[in-house]
Amino acid sequence: MSRRIVTFDDLRNAITAYRLPRVLIASLELNIFTAIGTDIWTISGLARAMKVSERGLAILCRNLAMAGLLKKKGEAYRNSRLGATALNAQHPAYRGDYLRLITSHWADWGRLLESVKTGLPLDHDEPDDPDYRRRFTWAMHHRTLETAPKIAAQINLRGARTLLDLGGGPGTYAMAFLAKNPRLRATVCDRPAALAVAEEIAATHKAGSRLSYLPLDLLTEVIPGTYDVIWYSNVLHIYSPKENQSVFRRALAALNPGGRLLIQDAFLYGREGLCPEEASLFAVSMLLFTERGNTYSAAETKAWLTDAGFERIKVVRMKKGMEDWEDGILEARSSGTNAKMPVRRISAAKSSGARSLR
Ligand SMILES: C[S@@+](CC[C@H](N)C(=O)[O-])C[C@H]1O[C@@H](n2cnc3c(N)ncnc32)[C@H](O)[C@@H]1O
Repeated sequence: MSRRIVTFDDLRNAITAYRLPRVLIASLELNIFTAIGTDIWTISGLARAMKVSERGLAILCRNLAMAGLLKKKGEAYRNSRLGATALNAQHPAYRGDYLRLITSHWADWGRLLESVKTGLPLDHDEPDDPDYRRRFTWAMHHRTLETAPKIAAQINLRGARTLLDLGGGPGTYAMAFLAKNPRLRATVCDRPAALAVAEEIAATHKAGSRLSYLPLDLLTEVIPGTYDVIWYSNVLHIYSPKENQSVFRRALAALNPGGRLLIQDAFLYGREGLCPEEASLFAVSMLLFTERGNTYSAAETKAWLTDAGFERIKVVRMKKGMEDWEDGILEARSSGTNAKMPVRRISAAKSSGARSLR
C-alpha cells in the first residue's frame, strides 16, 4: 500500500521521517559499526577511539540502540548482529559497496529540484565510467545476494538448459539459478567492467564453471545465440518504453520456441498506477540517475510484450518476504513449444503462483 497524507500531522510525520535515515547515514559515514566491532564500549572510550565528541556520540548511539542496530546495557554499547556483520568493514559479510551507494544518494536526492526543472539526470554529461561501473556492480551483488537464491528457489526452470541473464551485472541471479538447477548453463550479458566483477564472483562458486560472459550493448546490438530462458532483472526501469520495446523484439529473436522471458522490476499497479509506494518512489531515482528511465505498470509492459510478439504473458507472484519487488515478475513466452522444455502448466502455476494481470 502507498501511504496517504491527509492531515497536517501526516505531512509533518512524512517530512520528518528524514531524521532516522540521517542518523543511519551519519553513523555509516563515521564507520561506527566497524569501530565497535566485537567489543563492548563506554561512550567515553569509544569517543576517544573515534575522535568525536562524547555528547554527539552519546546521542547518536542512543538512537542507534533505539533502532535496534546497537545493544545498550547501562553505560555500555555493543553491536547488534547486523551491525557486527554487514555493516562492519572487518567482517567478511560486509556490504560496503551497497552501503556506499545508498548513502551517497542522500546528497543526490538533495538536488532533486535540478532534475525536476531540467528533466535530466544529475550527471547527464558523464559517459559510463568503468571504475564507477565496477563499484556499482559490486553494490548490486551486495544488494541481491540474499534475495537471488530465494527467487531462484521459486521459479521452476526444470527442463530449461540455457539461460541468458540480460543486463545481469554481477551475475548474482544467474549464479543462483545455476546453483538451483544443476543441468542449466547460463550466460551473463553486460558491459565489460560489470562482467569482470561477475567473473570474480563466479570464481568463488562451484556452479561458476557453468557461467559464460557476453559483453554487449543490450540496447542496440543483436543478441547472439538462442536461449530457453532470458532473465531481464532491474533493467526495464533504466530505459524508455520505446527502448524496452526494442529490447523485447531482440530478446524474442534470441529465445528458443516456447522459451520464456522473465522480467523482474518495480512494477506499478492500481487504476492510476500509484502503488506500491516503493515502485512509485523508485521512478524519482530514475529521474535523478538516468536519461529516460521510469517505473511502469505490468499492464503497459504486457502491451509492449504483445506488440513485440510474445504470448501467454502473466504476473508470477513470489511469496511475501521472498521477493525483490512486490508483484515484481512478468513472464512472457515465444510461440511454439520446445521439445526439451515441455510446458507443465499445473506444476509451473503451482510453484510460481501465476495469476492474471491487474
Ligand atoms: C540495476 S543493474 C541490475 C543488475 C542485475 N540484473 C540485478 O537485477 O541485480 C542494471 C544492469 O544493466 C546493465 N546495463 C544497462 N544498460 C546496458 C546496456 N545498454 N548494455 C549492457 N548492459 C547494460 C548495467 O551495466 C547494470 O549491470
